[in-house]
Amino acid sequence: MTEPLRIALAGLGTVGVGVIKLLAANRELITRRAGRSIAIVAVSSRDRGRDRAVDLSHFDWVDDATKLAERSDVDAVVELIGGSDGSALTLARNTIAAGRAFVTANKAMIAHHGLELAQAAETAGTALKYEAAVAGGIPVIKGLREGAAANEIAQVYGILNGTCNYILTTMEAEGSDFGAVLADAQALGYAEADPAFDVDGVDAAHKLSILASLSFGTRLDFAAVSTTGIRTILAGDIAQAKALGYRVRLVGRAEIVGGALLQSVQPCLVPVSHPLAHVAGAMNAVVAEGNFVGRLFFEGRGAGEGPTASAVVADLIDIARGEYGPAFAMPVSSLADPGRADTGNRVGQFYLRFTVADRPGVLAEITAAMRDAGVSIESMIQRGEAPDGGVLLVMTTHAGPERDVIAAVSALSGSASLVGKPMVMPILDV
Ligand SMILES: NC(=O)c1ccc[n+]([C@@H]2O[C@H](COP(=O)([O-])OP(=O)(O)OC[C@H]3O[C@@H](n4cnc5c(N)ncnc54)[C@H](OP(=O)(O)O)[C@@H]3O)[C@@H](O)[C@H]2O)c1
Repeated sequence: MTEPLRIALAGLGTVGVGVIKLLAANRELITRRAGRSIAIVAVSSRDRGRDRAVDLSHFDWVDDATKLAERSDVDAVVELIGGSDGSALTLARNTIAAGRAFVTANKAMIAHHGLELAQAAETAGTALKYEAAVAGGIPVIKGLREGAAANEIAQVYGILNGTCNYILTTMEAEGSDFGAVLADAQALGYAEADPAFDVDGVDAAHKLSILASLSFGTRLDFAAVSTTGIRTILAGDIAQAKALGYRVRLVGRAEIVGGALLQSVQPCLVPVSHPLAHVAGAMNAVVAEGNFVGRLFFEGRGAGEGPTASAVVADLIDIARGEYGPAFAMPVSSLADPGRADTGNRVGQFYLRFTVADRPGVLAEITAAMRDAGVSIESMIQRGEAPDGGVLLVMTTHAGPERDVIAAVSALSGSASLVGKPMVMPILDV
């Protein structure tokens, strides 16, 4: 009988408990698939007294999670604590330096320190696996790293944050504003008490930077992601987008433009004919366009105990089989550094919403600013009252560089005709 893969778990929250339950529930099947059993040897969390509704009595309890890296009776450490630095990072560094395999669901840590950890894993000849870090249960890391490995990928984009998608699709269904839906989502446990990482787009940006590196064979560059969240979207934006044949989604998008890497997370208008428009509630989806395979569309649950544990245990099964390679699909030294593209270079159509004072001359002022910046207006609707008393003026543009649209909007800043800040959203054209 082959020896079990002996693992230690750091962090016994939503995902950690999910991993314990999954390993127990599917033990026999996992053993057959992995070719050997996966046995939890030790666990660590902050509060030893907390009831976690799972039996921990068979595992060694370790107070200091970072000490799990030193155990000679452990083959792989699973980090489910969270946070880009602190104990999670210390544990990652020490585990890998000790030559043990390391599995994590921690997108913040991979986005910030993924290259360092991948290099260390190569040097130590061990595994760094992070399937659960991007889009939870969806096997998108495997899909890009292995299934699509033969392709040049032109673009990768998707809905990478379930909380934002839940808020946007609820706003759409109920006609409510952002604040009211966020409060309900918090009461129901769909949004964190501090929702900033989610609603400001940071969590999606972490995931996008990882997808970009895998897709294009480029060095991870989280700091270069241009990030805009969903706080300023009005119910009126969603209604107008719908009238025009679009749905509003927070889209993370990466592509190579003029040889340089362009990464953005921002609310976009998605045509109702595009599969992303039909991704509802807390679901996630990723689209990758490969030069031989064509369009790949991955959809599934991006969070939660079961889906996230599913991804973590898939990584453990790979390790048990001895199937792993470089964390970013090629050695760190082979990853290219294409430099950063300016989002202003991105060409496309845009949605603009102005909240304007209801008085003569306003329309002329705005259209003049568009004309002066070289922006060509495709359609215009003036309808409905904005929450702050003005009137909503909505435009879509013909295709042109984002730079021109931003210039037109900047030229209007401080104008007495505008009641609030204008909203600019790209229209997804892929
Ligand atoms: N939840 C999801 O659906 C999901 C999806 C994808 C990825 N992830 C990622 O998975 C990771 C874990 O998320 P989660 O939702 O399971 O978080 P969580 O429910 O907040 O659990 C975190 C756990 O870490 C423990 N912990 C905190 N600081 C610690 C330390 N210094 N030493 C040891 N244990 C410590 C906590 O201990 P106590 O319980 O003792 O206080 C808690 O059990 C994060 O990186 C997250 O981004 C989560």
